[in-house]
Amino acid sequence: MRTTSPSTVLVTGAAGYIGATLVRRLLADGARVIALDNLERGHAEQLPRDVPLIVGDVRDPDSVRQALGMFDRTPDACIHLAGLIQVGESTLFPQLYHDVNVVGTQVLADLCLEAGVAAFVMASSAAVLRPLQGVGDRLDEDAPVGPESPYGSSKLAGEHTLRAAAQLGRMSTVALRLFNVAGAAYGLAERHDPETHLIPLALRAAAGELPPLHVFGDDFPTPDRTCLRDYVHVRDVVEAFTRAARLAVAQTASGSAEFQVFHVGTGHGTSVNEVIAACELVLGKPVPRVVHGRRPGDVAALVSDPSKLAQVLNIHPDRDLLRMVRDAAATLGLLDG
Ligand code: UFG
Repeated sequence: MRTTSPSTVLVTGAAGYIGATLVRRLLADGARVIALDNLERGHAEQLPRDVPLIVGDVRDPDSVRQALGMFDRTPDACIHLAGLIQVGESTLFPQLYHDVNVVGTQVLADLCLEAGVAAFVMASSAAVLRPLQGVGDRLDEDAPVGPESPYGSSKLAGEHTLRAAAQLGRMSTVALRLFNVAGAAYGLAERHDPETHLIPLALRAAAGELPPLHVFGDDFPTPDRTCLRDYVHVRDVVEAFTRAARLAVAQTASGSAEFQVFHVGTGHGTSVNEVIAACELVLGKPVPRVVHGRRPGDVAALVSDPSKLAQVLNIHPDRDLLRMVRDAAATLGLLDG
């Protein structure tokens, strides 16, 4: 199928870490981008000044209509990154996660359908999957779902919304199940507020900016007893969004709208201890740490099988953890020179 880049794209959650990086990637493709973000957790200053930002919530139809109306015609694609993303927090506030991630996706998808948007791509998550049985397993798109956390359940419900929307035949929808997004591109640092992700926490603990890192559990059934995750460079992640949007636009144009899922990871599992060692190597100093109890909702291992990503979208993610850590450290201002 011949694919062309969408020329107009609405990006929700555009002021977040992945969102702001994606906006840069789309602009490099020559796209016109409108950003929608409620700025509860995003940072407006991460966006280029010439990208219009609607400060509003995806659950609010008026904000979504305003954002869709900023283009002189219906945008080709909507890339939906707005949402809450913390497994642990979701166990404390399951209703909030349902509201933002499920209701928000429904409102946005309905209004995109109504407006005639051709392609809708959503950030889903590896958290929708049933945890590995064997630690060496790699999970492809046919792997059984069975979320452990309210966060995972909310993302799975969002996928169901997209499947139903595509069945109407007017809008192709794609769920990208992101594994552990890491690294940095376009000089944009990962700065969640509060920060909960391992790599920035470990780097900033080593630099003395944060207290010692809590290692959440050293009693998992993994080789070194700490959790295994699949860390994937944010540069590859935004490439996946860009190419998925292209594919979805082409599918709708050819009269074959459908729903697709892709796993976005490297296919390689890395333990918490291995990440800490990489941070120490990159910074040349120790990561102060204490072993803590398990974090609620954390599973022993989540590792992708990214074969479909390679075959259909021709993306072969970089497996170099040191590069991800170095890029993250550089944008956090933690590398000399
Ligand atoms: N970890 C620690 N200490 C910390 C923070 C994290 O030991 O202070 C451990 C966690 O237990 C986990 C690993 O580091 O084993 C990675 O944790 P992150 O918080 O960085 O990421 P998660 O795996 O919890 O979640 C991320 C995304 C989710 C996505 C998931 C998919 O935030 O949205 O990856 O694998 F679903």
